[in-house]
Amino acid sequence: MSDLKISASILGADFRHLLDEARTLEAAGVDWLHFDIMDGHFVEQITFGALVPRALRGETGLFFDAHLMVTDPARQIPFFAEAGVNMVSIQIEAVPEPSGLLTDIHDSGMKAGLVINPSTPLEALDPFLDQCELVLVMGVEPGYAGQEYTPGTEERIAQLRRRIDEIGAPTLISVDGGIHSGTAPLVINAGTDVIVTASFLFRHPSGPAGGVRELRHLAAARG
Ligand code: DX5
Ligand code: ZN
Repeated sequence: MSDLKISASILGADFRHLLDEARTLEAAGVDWLHFDIMDGHFVEQITFGALVPRALRGETGLFFDAHLMVTDPARQIPFFAEAGVNMVSIQIEAVPEPSGLLTDIHDSGMKAGLVINPSTPLEALDPFLDQCELVLVMGVEPGYAGQEYTPGTEERIAQLRRRIDEIGAPTLISVDGGIHSGTAPLVINAGTDVIVTASFLFRHPSGPAGGVRELRHLAAARG
């Protein structure tokens, strides 16, 4: 799939120099910036809220994708809309009946995504697949960058691809966590549209541009 989108998670960035990092990622050719929002409750860590994408919004034209790992995402929607974020994704585990919240996100002028953890059955998403623009399949349990890919994530992506195609929805599939040159071909082959990655890009020996080149090469190789 040669139109693969790459979403760079700034969780892997040097937080002393976020603006420089965002510019480096844009120059490297990433498509989206991924903001990992953690509340210290849904997951252990606390990262940051809408103020960080808001601060970067005027500095780059990249698509901003906020991944809310928070227990109460509803309260945050207006802040992310105001910050100029393009898409907000919420965890199905935090909001098992998300229809109303997905509507609120759309009404705020943003695209909406649903995120599912490795341990949550895919059936949880079924009724909502045509109510969101993206489903984000976690390749790790959320909370930290740099974790190992959960084997079998690619099978979940393939299964989801079939379900989405069956209902004829335009919903994109994204994967987040544990992606590197070894795991990327598996998820690309399974039908992933958007790869989210932190460690692979930021720790690449040739820098983020090298990581982007490698992912694009792998995607082209898979046709
Ligand atoms: C994990 C976050 C991911 C994380 C990915 O909770 O949602 O976005 O930053 O990091 P890597 O690519 O290092 O697995
Ligand atoms: Zn994420």
